[in-house]
Amino acid sequence: MARTATLTIDGKTIELPIVVGSEGEIGIDISKLREQTGAITLDPSFGNTGACKSAITFIDGDKGILRYRGIPIEQLAEKSRFIEVAWLLIFGHLPKKDELARFSQRLTQNAPLHEAFKHHFEGFPVNAPPMAMLSAMINTLSCFHTHFLQLDDAEAFEEAAARLISKVRTIAAYSYRRSMGKPFIYPDPNLKYVANFLHMMFSEPYQQYIAPKEVEDALNLILVLHADHEQNCSTSTVRVVGSSKANMFTSCAAGVCALWGPLHGGANVAVLEMLESIYRGGLTPQQCIELAKDKNSGFKLMGFGHRVYKNFDPRAKILKESCHKVLNKLGVNDPLLDIAMKLEELALKDQYFVDRKLYPNVDFYSGIIMKAIGIPVNMFTVMFSIGRMPGWIAHWKEQHDDATARISRPRQIYTGPTITDYVPMDQR
Ligand code: CMC
Repeated sequence: MARTATLTIDGKTIELPIVVGSEGEIGIDISKLREQTGAITLDPSFGNTGACKSAITFIDGDKGILRYRGIPIEQLAEKSRFIEVAWLLIFGHLPKKDELARFSQRLTQNAPLHEAFKHHFEGFPVNAPPMAMLSAMINTLSCFHTHFLQLDDAEAFEEAAARLISKVRTIAAYSYRRSMGKPFIYPDPNLKYVANFLHMMFSEPYQQYIAPKEVEDALNLILVLHADHEQNCSTSTVRVVGSSKANMFTSCAAGVCALWGPLHGGANVAVLEMLESIYRGGLTPQQCIELAKDKNSGFKLMGFGHRVYKNFDPRAKILKESCHKVLNKLGVNDPLLDIAMKLEELALKDQYFVDRKLYPNVDFYSGIIMKAIGIPVNMFTVMFSIGRMPGWIAHWKEQHDDATARISRPRQIYTGPTITDYVPMDQR
């Protein structure tokens, strides 16, 4: 018999269907609640609200589990590459050889930007934040590929997905070059995804930068770990924008804007700034912990805590290990790593953090790795955006393909003035 939940409101009792996910999670379906009772649910910041059914990513925050299309993140981190993971997320299965070859070829073909883009970049001030440029330029793709605004067949969708994943990397590198006042470096069709990005970032017209394998692998790992995280702030943004039938490019540009904030993707920059401020003697690790516990300080321990993970963030675990390895291999001795480990040690035995189940998240160690491999701090959140692009596209597609999907439109409980008469200017 189908399970139901019983709700009694003002003496009226109704049965609400229970939806069960493939991992046994349950959700109470309240889609008829208002119709049946006149009431809505109130859940600011959506901590208890499922906005959709999704078959892309599974997280069990209490057990520290993250799986893309059922495959544990630990296996993908060890065995897979970013482009394979992108295909897995978007199309639902690991690519066969010919599928991966076709997709890779499409990525290569789509790496260059239309020459007119250069003029757009020149319009930005040299010190413009790369995240602002990234979002604006992804949106600008909508102007250059208008035939991809309607994606109603599989072929057009695959081409558009490849375009976006490939071009976001070129746009990201050009944003950095612009912010440094350096000439743009064209993509090299002989290089793979990550190596090509590093080439566009760091080559000079007179000298090509070929990334060492350790650097390429470290960046690949970061991209794999960031590729999707189900209904987080930026992905939900992409879905909300996409629910109005806005095109994929513009929906993903909105995702970049949401990711920029320091409580979300921007935390990787905030972590590094926090560690640097401790290093420069601004405050000790212990003072930093005390400040984070003081609700009046407005300060949080950046890179700590998560809405969903209440045990550990499996991505942080992988990155912590990788951080030590990468720094060792590159012979980098970064005092910020020691500070990070000290902060982690102090926080993990402090009752405030223990009681609230606050653990290091993905952003805690990723910045130290990116710094070690030469990625400038103002590009950290941009790297997160490149990594998250396949996830955004997968969610946009899942929603786009769902014939039952409706426009996202939350309700509210109004708390403003009741009916009030207009007062003419001379009587106010
Ligand atoms: N430092 C100090 N206190 C914290 C922190 C922190 N980093 N995170 C949460 N708390 C407190 C919070 O104030 C609340 O305290 P109380 O119960 O006394 O009111 C309690 O812990 C529970 O917080 P929560 O409800 O679990 O937090 P949330 O779901 O509203 O926010 C978060 C999650 C990630 C935004 C938050 O933990 C935070 O601001 N962390 C620092 C920023 C950060 O690292 N963000 C990256 C998140 S992971 C990658 C990504 O999403 O992009």
